[in-house]
Amino acid sequence: MPKTLLTGASGRLGSYLRERFAATGRPVLATDLVAPDDGGEVVLADLADRAAVEALMQSDIEAVVHFGGMANEAPWQAILDANIAGTYNVFEAARQAGVKRVIYASSYHVLGMHKVSDAPLDRHAEVRPDSLYAVSKLFGENLSRLYHDKFGIQCLNVRICAANNPGSQRDLKLWCDREDLARLVFAGLDARELGYRTVFAISGNAGAWYVNEPGQTLGWKAEHSSGELPAPAGGWPEPKPEVAVLQGGGFAVRGHFED
Ligand SMILES: NC(=O)c1ccc[n+]([C@@H]2O[C@H](COP(=O)([O-])OP(=O)(O)OC[C@H]3O[C@@H](n4cnc5c(N)ncnc54)[C@H](O)[C@@H]3O)[C@@H](O)[C@H]2O)c1
Repeated sequence: MPKTLLTGASGRLGSYLRERFAATGRPVLATDLVAPDDGGEVVLADLADRAAVEALMQSDIEAVVHFGGMANEAPWQAILDANIAGTYNVFEAARQAGVKRVIYASSYHVLGMHKVSDAPLDRHAEVRPDSLYAVSKLFGENLSRLYHDKFGIQCLNVRICAANNPGSQRDLKLWCDREDLARLVFAGLDARELGYRTVFAISGNAGAWYVNEPGQTLGWKAEHSSGELPAPAGGWPEPKPEVAVLQGGGFAVRGHFED
């Protein structure tokens, strides 16, 4: 039976998606570099290893949900291996195997050097990456563009905002409920005509920094908002002043990782 290949399936978001694939009866081949903490079924493979990625793609794969890789700023070699070579290997092995669709986990950090006062932004905003990590996310978005335009693969870039537990008022503007994210991924998998598009995965937060045009979102609409999260005793803290100016927060103010 045709399956979706889910990369990064042992990670925070990949584990959530793996559970949602199982719960909704969608056939999935889950893969990661490491085994998951929950003991779930995950095939171990390094995305930087082309032969290993090609082997995964031979398992009757009809679509890829690519969430694997470095999810933070990291030394260049780690970004190069996991996010640049790894993402290239995913797209190229997909093309060679005749896979028709890729859902790619990008990030709001591709806009991270914009000022907070410039918000809200939409997908037409100039890209201003705040880290080598964000540059690698743009490499993946550009691979999506290339593999759609040249090879006809249907591609969705999902610019995920903050899908982890919020720690400050800043995070409330960026928050993405994981179920909202999963529904967006499934909307991308199920759309008859996905084409090529870029959508922010962000919940319906008051003062959200990123907005989607309704026509771009495949009928997907966030059902949650950070307003429903229980505030800690004393309320949500203000962000530290040094991370409050640029949209990328700590990513934007940190120097080179290797200095
Ligand atoms: N969590 C967020 O809020 C957020 C925000 C923006 C973008 N994203 C993107 O979403 C994706 C998932 O993020 P996450 O928060 O679950 O991160 P995570 O670090 O929890 O998961 C990433 C997974 O990728 C795996 N991986 C790393 N290098 C690999 C390699 N060479 N081969 C195979 N697997 C490898 C890791 O083992 C890990 O399980 C990432 O691409 C990240 O950039 C996440």
